[in-house]
Amino acid sequence: MHLANFPRARFAHLPTPLEPLPRLSAALGGEFTLWVKRDDCTGLAGGGNKTRKLEFLLGDALAKGADTLITQGAVQSNHVRQTAAAAARFGLACEVILEQRTGSNAVDYNGSGNVLLDHLMGAKVRTTPGGSDMNAALAAVADEVSAKGGKPYVIPGGGSNPIGALGYVDCAIELVRQADEQGLVIDRIVTATGSAGTHAGLVAGLGLIGADIPVLGIGVRAPKETQEANVHKLAVETAALLGHPDRVTREMTVANCDYVGRGYGLIDDQVIEALKLAARTEALILDPVYTGKGMKGLIALARQGVFKGETVVFLHTGGAQGLFGYHSELEGHLG
Ligand SMILES: Cc1ncc(COP(=O)(O)O)c(C=O)c1O
Repeated sequence: MHLANFPRARFAHLPTPLEPLPRLSAALGGEFTLWVKRDDCTGLAGGGNKTRKLEFLLGDALAKGADTLITQGAVQSNHVRQTAAAAARFGLACEVILEQRTGSNAVDYNGSGNVLLDHLMGAKVRTTPGGSDMNAALAAVADEVSAKGGKPYVIPGGGSNPIGALGYVDCAIELVRQADEQGLVIDRIVTATGSAGTHAGLVAGLGLIGADIPVLGIGVRAPKETQEANVHKLAVETAALLGHPDRVTREMTVANCDYVGRGYGLIDDQVIEALKLAARTEALILDPVYTGKGMKGLIALARQGVFKGETVVFLHTGGAQGLFGYHSELEGHLG
C-alpha cells in the first residue's frame, strides 16, 4: 500500500485542521465529545472533499496527456465547481453537464452559488433534465471533444472511482496521524455520503492501516441498501488498487439513510436547524445538500443517545458555496 505509486497533482491545503467543537457538543447535551475534520479548508476555489480526489484524478489526467476535463453533477454541484477550479489551475479546458436534479426553477439555485463559480472559472456549462443518463451524456461530450482533436478525461460524478477515492485513503491516514499526535482516541467518524467516494476511501484507508475506527455515512440520496452496496464495492476496488482488497469487509460499510427527507438537494426544518446550530455555536458553515443533512442525522442520533460517551469526528466535506443557491429557500427561516 503506497500512495506514492500514483500520479498526483498537488494543490490541496493539507493537512486540514482537526478541531474540537465544545459549544456544539454542549448544545447537543454534552454526553459525547464532537470534533471536526475541516476538509472544507482544502483550499481549491473554496475547498471541500473533491479537492483531495482531484489531486489523484488530475495526476492521472495529466499523466495521460489530457487537455479537457469533463464531468457532471447537480446544478449546485460542489464537485463540478472544484473540477472547474482544477482545470483552470492547470490550464485545461473544462466541459460540465449539470442535471436539473432538484427540479428547482429558482433564480439563485440556477445562477448563484456553485454554478456562478463554474462560469467564473471558465467551464463550458450545459444543463440537462433530471433523470437523464449522465454516463451517456459524459460519453457524448467526450466524443465531441475527441472529434475536434482534443484529449478528453472523463471524471465520474463526485469524482467517485478508485483513483478519486485514493484522496480519502490519504485523508484516513492524515486523520489517524493527527489524532495520534494529539492523543485523541476517535470512537467514530461521521460523514455525509453521496456518490460514495469519500466514505469508501475512508473505509479502505482505515482498513489498510488497520485502524479500528468505524465510519458512519449519513446518506443524502439513495436508500440504505443501495448506498452501503455502492460504498462497499468502491471501498473494495480502492483497496484492490492498493493491492489489498481483503482489508475491507462488508461489515465496515455502514450508512444511515433515514435523514434524506424529501429527496436529494431538498431541505427541511431539521436541515435548517443543523445549519443554524453549527453556525451559531462554532461559526461552522455547513451546506444545505450534504453537510447540513449529515449534521441533521448526527444531531438526531445524538439526541437518541447513540454516541453516549464517545469521541466523534464529523468530517466537514465543504459545500458552503452552495448556500447562496438556496437564498430564497432559507430567507425567512434564519431568525
Ligand atoms: C459538500 C459535500 N459533502 C459530501 C459529499 C459527498 O461525498 P461523496 O460524493 O464522495 O459521497 C459531496 C459530494 O458532492 C459534497 O459536495
